[in-house]
Amino acid sequence: MLFPIVLIFSLLPSSLAVNFDYESIQLTEDEAAGWPDVRFAGQGPSPPEQECKYTPEDETWPTSEEWAKFNETLGGVLLKPLPLATPCYAGPNYDEARCRALRTQWASNTSLHANDPTSITSQWSSGYSCVPTSDPNSTCTQGGWPVYVVKASNVRHVQLGVNFARNRNIRVVIKNGGHDFNGKSIGGNSLGIWVSGLKATTYHPNYISPKYRGKAVAYGGGTQAQDLSLLSARNNFTMHIAGGPTVGMAGGYLQGGGHSRNSAQHGLAADNTLLIYAVTADGRFVTASPKENQDLFWAFRGGGGGNYGIITSVIVKAWSTPRSATGTITFSTLPDPGSNTSISTDTFWAGIREYFAFLVPITDAGGLGYDFIRHTPTSSSPDLTFSTSIWLPEKTTSEYQAFVRPLLDRLNALAIPIPAPTTKRSPSHLTPRVLGENIPSALIASRLFQRPNLDNPISISETVSAVRTFVEDGGYTYHGIATSPTLEAGGHPDNAVLPAWRTAVLHAQGYDGNRHWNGASPQLSMADEKRSHDRLMRYMQAWRDITPGSGSYTNEGDAQEPDWKDSFYGPNYGRLEKIKKRWDPWGVFWVISGVGSDGWEVRGSSGGGREGFFTQDGALCRVGWRGK
Ligand SMILES: Cc1cc2nc3c(=O)[nH]c(=O)nc-3n(C[C@H](O)[C@H](O)[C@H](O)COP(=O)(O)OP(=O)(O)OC[C@H]3O[C@@H](n4cnc5c(N)ncnc54)[C@H](O)[C@@H]3O)c2cc1C
Ligand SMILES: *[C@@H]1O[C@H](CO)[C@@H](O)[C@H](O)[C@H]1NC(C)=O
Ligand SMILES: *[C@@H]1O[C@H](CO)[C@@H](O)[C@H](O)[C@H]1NC(C)=O
Ligand SMILES: *[C@@H]1O[C@H](CO)[C@@H](O)[C@H](O)[C@H]1NC(C)=O
Ligand SMILES: *[C@@H]1O[C@H](CO)[C@@H](O)[C@H](O)[C@H]1NC(C)=O
Ligand SMILES: *[C@@H]1O[C@H](CO)[C@@H](O)[C@H](O)[C@H]1NC(C)=O
Repeated sequence: MLFPIVLIFSLLPSSLAVNFDYESIQLTEDEAAGWPDVRFAGQGPSPPEQECKYTPEDETWPTSEEWAKFNETLGGVLLKPLPLATPCYAGPNYDEARCRALRTQWASNTSLHANDPTSITSQWSSGYSCVPTSDPNSTCTQGGWPVYVVKASNVRHVQLGVNFARNRNIRVVIKNGGHDFNGKSIGGNSLGIWVSGLKATTYHPNYISPKYRGKAVAYGGGTQAQDLSLLSARNNFTMHIAGGPTVGMAGGYLQGGGHSRNSAQHGLAADNTLLIYAVTADGRFVTASPKENQDLFWAFRGGGGGNYGIITSVIVKAWSTPRSATGTITFSTLPDPGSNTSISTDTFWAGIREYFAFLVPITDAGGLGYDFIRHTPTSSSPDLTFSTSIWLPEKTTSEYQAFVRPLLDRLNALAIPIPAPTTKRSPSHLTPRVLGENIPSALIASRLFQRPNLDNPISISETVSAVRTFVEDGGYTYHGIATSPTLEAGGHPDNAVLPAWRTAVLHAQGYDGNRHWNGASPQLSMADEKRSHDRLMRYMQAWRDITPGSGSYTNEGDAQEPDWKDSFYGPNYGRLEKIKKRWDPWGVFWVISGVGSDGWEVRGSSGGGREGFFTQDGALCRVGWRGK
């Protein structure tokens, strides 16, 4: 009698375990078998391999009847969104008032882009095919924006999207907050899968798994930083959360690494991930955990977003909120409003040197140094402003004051007027002035600086000098995040995080912060973009030169980084490439500078692709295809 019962249980697919109700709504084998366009891989013959993903120009692109059938199968959640700036253009959608609102908010309102089915903040990657303009007679085209979008709110929607795109040879893009700096969440001629509707959170104060007991949080594939800030504040716990309210958490953030102010104490978001549910390229709903699909679990944690599957939810570790204190230090070459004195440029950089010498002590104390050096080119004299927010765990305010005292003394000895920082017991989460919140046209690059770059007078001078040239001559903004997510801090995880992170003490980003586009001036041309990009690459070289063997953070880096495989993935690249091939032999998922991305290129893009500048408006094609 026991035998049949055991058999029944063993037949239950593991996919019955889920975090949220929307994950129980799945595409069944029978339903998928009923329409070849939506069947799972392996349920029938695979369509023959093509050189390029189809575009609406191809006869093989689904007909409007087929799209309508797909929509019906989806229960009506298929969208055909026009670019966000469409109301600015002559035609049936022209709306002068709406256009004016778009123009004023374009560069400052992140939610505008985050809440749209296709729009993103790094607008340049679309090829500027449709931007808010005051000339309604100029042209707006779909460019790099997806043609159709599945507005997913359950696993079935995601599965149908993946299956339809794979069976019909259509490019897929996944979008959540739309913050990727290189346009990884858009793509011309594609079917978008918009995951923002997979939003849910659960706090587990006493989570138990074979390898972990303690606080944990389950969150959805569409959950954003602000959702988790709210949850953690309400329940008085701490977890890794990205530093911008609408940043998607399970996409690039967790999959690319994910740093937070707790990284020197607790490693990266990837290190704290206990369980992942996802839809893979074959359309199946899978569990990735230390027990199931271990290779996928390894790749998801650090191997880069948008490339191995569509995450529908995760479970991550959380901790008690430590006592902590934070304070801000700023100085500038501009006259100090209190004293009317100003410091020279050399004194400014001497001050930066003292601060840089303090980064190792900050990270050794488990803290975070979160700073900006900004250059304002509008004034006649060089005009530089530095601000940092230093956060320290396990410190009272008086312990904090004592800790930063040596730094303040050295700055005062340089006659830099620094009042004692206003210190406060910090709230449970930082809401820093966020990079990217208003830079829809910025180009960004970054480098991980290693401890030897900052632990002795000679190397510190070298580091400061490289940053000085970058800011002063280049005119760029510097954004430093001093933290050290060592293996120890991360709990000795075995995952795909770039190993250079483990020995780094500073994640340094550089971007052209003065190219804020206000939505009114003429848009930059692609030729200008290429020139700007080439220039940024040249200036970044000095950072690379003094950090041999290190790398760059894929989520906050330049997709056209030289030696990008090594820079973003290091020695993990080969293993990741095998996992990518095993789970996605069809190339359903593709993101610029993702693992295996060099097998494909965007052809006919306005940026010119590999020889020029990477934009996503074009056809996605296999490189060196010889037919099959
Ligand atoms: C304002 C701001 C603040 C930031 N702060 C931090 C920070 O504190 N720490 C840090 O480490 N990084 C930070 N970043 C970088 C951030 O981690 C990445 O930009 C991240 O990829 C953004 O995710 P998103 O969902 O908002 O963007 P999207 O552009 O929508 O998605 C990013 C990538 O993830 C993929 N993706 C999205 N959702 C899923 C999913 N459910 N399953 C599979 N793939 C998916 C997309 O295809 C794309 O490749 C910040 C970025 C910005 C703009
Ligand atoms: C899909 O169906 C819904 C409901 O009928 C409809 O509102 C929507 O416009 C359709 N989408 C497309 C792309 O036609
Ligand atoms: C920003 O955009 C969102 C979404 O469109 C909108 O709800 C909000 O009112 C806008 N905020 C401002 C300050 O304009
Ligand atoms: C746009 O074109 C129309 C028709 O040719 C013309 O009347 C109008 O002045 C043009 N508008 C602008 C802003 O150039
Ligand atoms: C929050 O948690 C911390 C650490 O456990 C504790 O010291 C503190 O009293 C808690 N605060 C509240 C408001 O419960
Ligand atoms: C700074 O200069 C301004 C203008 O000369 C003057 O009004 C102000 O009193 C000065 N402030 C101090 C603190 O000296």
